[in-house]
Amino acid sequence: MDAAFDIPTDIARTVLDPKAYGADTPVHDAFRWLRANNPLGVARLEGIEPTWLVTRHADILEISRQNDLFHSGDKSATFTTLEGDATVRAMTGGSPHLVRTLVQMDAPDHPKYRLLTQSWFLPQNIRKLEDDIREIARAHVDHMASLGGECDFVRDVALTFPLRVIMHILGVPQEDEPRMLKLTQELFSPSDPELARETDAVGGADSVEGLQATIADFFMYFKQITDARKAAPGDDLATVIANGKIDGEPISEFEAMSYYVIVATAGHDTTSSSTAGAIWGMCEYPDAFAKVKADPALIPGLVDEAIRWTTPVKHFMRSATADTEVGGRKIAKDDWLMLCYASGNRDEALFDEPDVFKPERSPNKHLAFGYGAHLCLGQHLAKMEMRILFEELMPRLNSLAFAGTPSRAEANFVGGPKRLPIRYEMT
Ligand code: HEM
Repeated sequence: MDAAFDIPTDIARTVLDPKAYGADTPVHDAFRWLRANNPLGVARLEGIEPTWLVTRHADILEISRQNDLFHSGDKSATFTTLEGDATVRAMTGGSPHLVRTLVQMDAPDHPKYRLLTQSWFLPQNIRKLEDDIREIARAHVDHMASLGGECDFVRDVALTFPLRVIMHILGVPQEDEPRMLKLTQELFSPSDPELARETDAVGGADSVEGLQATIADFFMYFKQITDARKAAPGDDLATVIANGKIDGEPISEFEAMSYYVIVATAGHDTTSSSTAGAIWGMCEYPDAFAKVKADPALIPGLVDEAIRWTTPVKHFMRSATADTEVGGRKIAKDDWLMLCYASGNRDEALFDEPDVFKPERSPNKHLAFGYGAHLCLGQHLAKMEMRILFEELMPRLNSLAFAGTPSRAEANFVGGPKRLPIRYEMT
């Protein structure tokens, strides 16, 4: 990695700092600077492996679609420090991953495991969930209407709506949802003092031991579900996973558990952040609210714009399997790259006024769901859930405004609105 491509230390620190994502402006300022001045540069800081920060939309796509050349599983699939990596490897006997989900796999395993649930997630299959999801959405809209014109939209609607949907498809009973919500937050926001796990693990909640304890809790919980679905198969996703076969052999327990964890976690926080992002966007840009209110045909556009504007998955990592070149930069075998989706989705080359929330934006070729072989499995489900919620909510929502200062989670991997106090009139 040529030192000539190094990124100024303060900019590199900002992009990697969970707090900067909580504050939002610093990280978008840093990304804007990088796209203009050093779109594929090296973050070289003490305690981390030198890392390419990929900030332009075109470069993120080019890397994401070459899955043989850029692997997801050879190194950690999410950003970590040298110390974090060493601890994981010590615990796992050399693997850089605490779980083995689709996200950490490459060919030949990845397509086999993906095939297991791929057809379940196709639009024609998930359409059968439309009525159940609409019922859950209506209950949330009714609840919002009952709150007397003020609520914290994150706490009162956005957190529980997708959680209930995902738990429904995984067959988790409603009374266990609070526990699942807590575990998801602990996994994704271990650095956020308000969301992190209360732990006596050495090193605290955001240490590897803290995360390991959270994962162990997930595993313990889903073990019961697997056993139940093996004994009595249904037509839910939990049944597909529990009875899945890879190369003719039953899926291993560890991998089945990992599959539940990825679906439960990937399917929840991301969708709730995007749902809250839509409300945040319409509060910050009242003309967006007026436009969607006047024209319900804009609801799918609202959904896509909320996902782009929020970009709940801030990054995934790749490592090069051979020497290559991207965006005029020579990438060497084993180099580590961070795909900065939150930057690609604000790329001026593709998006007009990228910081502005515009439900009418068309086309809206955001890459919030990634691209290539790992393209989000749940994208149709996420968009369907959000569309249904806003189809139920918008006709009844007559006014909308902030009722206090909103805040975002301090997380550099998955995050979004944490508190969203709003004032509204509903029929
Ligand atoms: C707005 C909501 C969502 C966003 C922004 C999002 C984002 C992403 C991204 C960026 C990836 C790519 C990972 C990579 O390239 O390494 C991904 C993969 C994945 N997502 Fe989502 N996701 C969302 C909702 C969901 C939902 C609702 C589910 C399931 C119910 C889900 C399940 C998955 C799974 C299983 C993968 C792994 C696919 C693979 O590696 O082959 N996601 N998601």
